Amino acid sequence: MAKNSTVSSNIGLFLIVLSVYVTISYSVSINSIHNRFRRNVGDTVQGLYNASDDVEELVESSFNKNVYKSDRAWFIEFYNTWCGHCRKYAPTYKAVAEYFRDCKDILVIAAIDCSNEINEPTCRYFEIMGYPSLRYFHENYLEDPLNLGLTVIKANDEISSNIQLVINTIIAEQDKGRAQMIPKLHPYNHSDVSKVFELARSEDKFAFLIIENVDLIGVQTILTFHRVPHIFITYALKSNEVLIDSLGVSNSLPTVVILSRDGRVVNKNFTNAVSLKDVIIKFLKGEGIEVEKYVTYNSDNQDKSLKEKDLKKSEENEMIDKVRRMGDVIFQMDLETALRFSLRQEISRTKIIEGDKLQALRSYVQVLVKYFPISKSGHHFLYDLSLLVTNSDSVKGTDISSLVKESEKEGKFIWSSPKQWLGCKGSTPETRGYPCGVWTMFHFLTVNAGEQNIGRRNMDPKEVLNAMYGYIKYFFGCADCSQHFQKMASERKIEQVSSLNEAIMWLWAAHNVVNARLAGDPTEDPLFPKKQFPTAEHCPECRYQNGSWNFYQVEQYMKHMYSSNNIRYIGSDMKVIHSDDGASNFHSNGILGPVDSKLKWLILMPLYLGYIYASH
Ligand SMILES: Cc1cc2nc3c(=O)[nH]c(=O)nc-3n(C[C@H](O)[C@H](O)[C@H](O)COP(=O)(O)OP(=O)(O)OC[C@H]3O[C@@H](n4cnc5c(N)ncnc54)[C@H](O)[C@@H]3O)c2cc1C
Ligand SMILES: *[C@@H]1O[C@H](CO)[C@@H](O)[C@H](O)[C@H]1NC(C)=O
Ligand SMILES: *[C@@H]1O[C@H](CO)[C@@H](O)[C@H](O)[C@H]1NC(C)=O
Repeated sequence: MAKNSTVSSNIGLFLIVLSVYVTISYSVSINSIHNRFRRNVGDTVQGLYNASDDVEELVESSFNKNVYKSDRAWFIEFYNTWCGHCRKYAPTYKAVAEYFRDCKDILVIAAIDCSNEINEPTCRYFEIMGYPSLRYFHENYLEDPLNLGLTVIKANDEISSNIQLVINTIIAEQDKGRAQMIPKLHPYNHSDVSKVFELARSEDKFAFLIIENVDLIGVQTILTFHRVPHIFITYALKSNEVLIDSLGVSNSLPTVVILSRDGRVVNKNFTNAVSLKDVIIKFLKGEGIEVEKYVTYNSDNQDKSLKEKDLKKSEENEMIDKVRRMGDVIFQMDLETALRFSLRQEISRTKIIEGDKLQALRSYVQVLVKYFPISKSGHHFLYDLSLLVTNSDSVKGTDISSLVKESEKEGKFIWSSPKQWLGCKGSTPETRGYPCGVWTMFHFLTVNAGEQNIGRRNMDPKEVLNAMYGYIKYFFGCADCSQHFQKMASERKIEQVSSLNEAIMWLWAAHNVVNARLAGDPTEDPLFPKKQFPTAEHCPECRYQNGSWNFYQVEQYMKHMYSSNNIRYIGSDMKVIHSDDGASNFHSNGILGPVDSKLKWLILMPLYLGYIYASH
């Protein structure tokens, strides 16, 4: 008996020594990766727009400086880099901005990235809860909590209808007496040309009446030439048939009819015109009016160096590749980043959290306290958070955000990792990231709830799923995803889940439904195609010969992959994770066990030195 225990304690000591050795040598390579990671990614987040397009990307400071008390009108997209809908919308929005590029001195097509931490106060202030959100801010807009801009609702992602949306917004503003620095954008509705000069200014010598098909060329021409003095431009639509017939131009649309002050039609036949704009420029040149200096507007007070930041792509891809080769594992960095993102960029977004929303938040925090893997100080932090949300009937978003900010201060030892993605890192800045982190975190929580409650009775098997459901319903910024998820939850009968294992499997199946829906979607990361999980390559035994799932094996696979023992700490600071061991959520985490961390370092120092010596 005594002999046996000596043997086992010797083995125990051996294992401790071995594990410390492994940890240290591991952390050497980890540190270099960690540093490289920092250097490459930096703290800037590359949003969906950059210097090569016409969308004016704002950040909190430029928003405050430029949008308030502006002599221009602002059309602003509040977006979120990781939201699939925003990524799909980005090409459309770029085209909209391109359409309005020549009038940036009066109307700006802009965007602000709400997934970028520095924009958090702005996105919260404007109560942006779903992405993308379009808001219009009129000229001379002043900070006013009762006027958070005009919400503009888009029907689809079609370019022309989105351009029309901006035009209609301006027209409605002009009808209210605002947006007077922008030329009138109403179409010409009269049945002959006699009213054209009534609309012009008294100093205008020539008027151009554009008659368009459905190509939106009229408004664009008006805006392009809006600084040219002594001319007036308006446009009529194809639907104004009486006018078109009276001019006899129905076969040559789009066209422009040039009128002089006395109402005379100067010209209306441009059979070989390159473009309407060229016609106008040529005509004005002939009249001695130089337009060039008025038609190219250069606004670029933006910080280009920030926008064009060159990320060293090859090194970054090398890292992605390394991580990918590790197969189905999870990273502490992703779990922490997902949680921090959720607290700061999502939950803190709500000004006041109360009612059902608060209830959802409580369930979420409750589950985090119980199952989220975090350092001991981190555990205290989560506990403080749970007090904050349970002790009051109404919680301010800013309170949560302050608590998290405080937790991120140096010397707090709460977060072990930089706020970046590792396993969830996409091959481009706008793919993967946060939504991947959310899935990973909740899979982990379902599995961990299973691990920690084996054999326990009177335990709600849906605890984690309910928390997730509430989170996705009330806080997840991707409105579209949230809708889909809620629908799926009711279709797939989330309420009938009756054990912790079923909860794991429910979420696995639900995630696969989303994967199937998104396979081949333009938002897919080409390096991470949406496949049914797990792949046959990673888990051959998860499918029968006939191709159908072997649920028992899938369950084993899930429990292994999302187990706390399978967390990888690349890029994370092990000293934080194991600082003052004991009550942290790492207690169930086998290898490093409840050994005093200082002791570990002491035991291993000689080995470590030997290792360095040997490798030189
Ligand atoms: C609740 C929710 C709903 C969403 N709905 C939509 C939507 O409607 N439209 C839309 O465009 N985007 C939606 N998304 C985002 C989308 O699902 C992906 O998260 C995003 O496209 C990033 O994909 P990814 O390649 O990083 O892999 P993700 O799908 O995010 O998966 C992350 C990781 O989880 C693992 N995994 C994959 N499948 C499973 C599984 N079945 N079980 C366990 N682990 C798995 C893999 O290791 C994978 O790398 C939603 C996200 C969430 C969290
Ligand atoms: C801007 O982004 C596009 C595609 O998203 C890319 O092709 C282009 O090189 C980028 N330009 C700059 C200046 O970063
Ligand atoms: C596939 O094979 C398994 C086990 O052999 C069986 O249980 C299952 O019903 C089969 N599925 C189909 C669709 O044939």
